[in-house]
Amino acid sequence: MKKGFETIFVTGATGKIGSYLCELAEESRVDNFGIHLFVRDPSKLKSFKPYFKIFKGDLTDEKAIKRAMAGCTKVFLVIGGKSCIDSALENNAIKVAKQLKISHIIKISGGNAVTYAGTTSTVGQAHFRNETAIMKSGLDFDIIRPAFFSQNIFRQFLSKNFVCPDSFDMAYIDYRDLARYGWCLLQAAPLNRIHHLSGQKLVSPQQVVSVINRVLGQKLEVVNKPIEWFVTNVPDWYSSHVKLVLEKVAEGTYSVLTNDYEKLMGCPPISFEDTMNLDKKKLAWSVDQNKALWGHDK
Ligand SMILES: NC(=O)c1ccc[n+]([C@@H]2O[C@H](COP(=O)([O-])OP(=O)(O)OC[C@H]3O[C@@H](n4cnc5c(N)ncnc54)[C@H](OP(=O)(O)O)[C@@H]3O)[C@@H](O)[C@H]2O)c1
Repeated sequence: MKKGFETIFVTGATGKIGSYLCELAEESRVDNFGIHLFVRDPSKLKSFKPYFKIFKGDLTDEKAIKRAMAGCTKVFLVIGGKSCIDSALENNAIKVAKQLKISHIIKISGGNAVTYAGTTSTVGQAHFRNETAIMKSGLDFDIIRPAFFSQNIFRQFLSKNFVCPDSFDMAYIDYRDLARYGWCLLQAAPLNRIHHLSGQKLVSPQQVVSVINRVLGQKLEVVNKPIEWFVTNVPDWYSSHVKLVLEKVAEGTYSVLTNDYEKLMGCPPISFEDTMNLDKKKLAWSVDQNKALWGHDK
């Protein structure tokens, strides 16, 4: 193997952050990297160049993880959907990483507001358990705790209006910036710390709507709903998470800007308006969908 060559085990490549990370890997110094994609359904992957090796498997299956992680030097972990509440899944990958003496493990974790000992969010609990497992593993690591994704707002439209709770200034971050940051960490020596990533500026509901109206040429308005309304409009497995997120939003815990992104990347994260322009098609589709489910289908 060439000196400096890294082979990276990547999960979540059919999701938002993981698939963008793969795009960055494709554009990057490919001669210095090999990528092992660990996916449940390879048919969901975009087509990639041959230096991506694809391994079909589920994070429930330790043997499949071992086959895919063999020969890797680094691990990038991201998991989403309902699997987020089952800490055993990522933990299987952490266990294998330890057995294989992986040199650097990077995890996309939960938001800072919901990821702590004693959190009432099932999502936060699983993330916190796995952060702890990584730190106790003795492996070198970097953990990324993101703010609220800008793209979450695509699930907040009802009757062509933007539905949100009161007091809703958010430090929205684009998932692409998480992939960029993760890709940058993968190319560096481990920093062994938790990174807190927010977007560029706080954005109020009125500003969200002004941006959307500018981007789409529409006349949406802000419609406020109480916390209970959101909690009853998500699936049961997700409700403790949404409830805690909204309580933390009301306390102002989501209205915090950090400078970790700019310090490492040397430039600010994408602005909320740039995200909406980049995702204009999806935004227009979402407004028409009329689905205020905040995150997941019921
Ligand atoms: N949204 C937010 O505001 C926010 C804020 C802070 C942190 N986060 C964290 O960000 C993460 C979500 O990232 P994302 O949006 O990129 O996720 P995503 O788009 O939902 O993608 C999730 C990925 O995980 C894969 N996956 C799920 N279960 C799996 C399993 N059992 N085995 C193997 N792969 C599995 C999915 O594969 P399939 O395609 O097969 O389903 C998919 O590739 C979550 O951990 C979340 O807690 C989100």
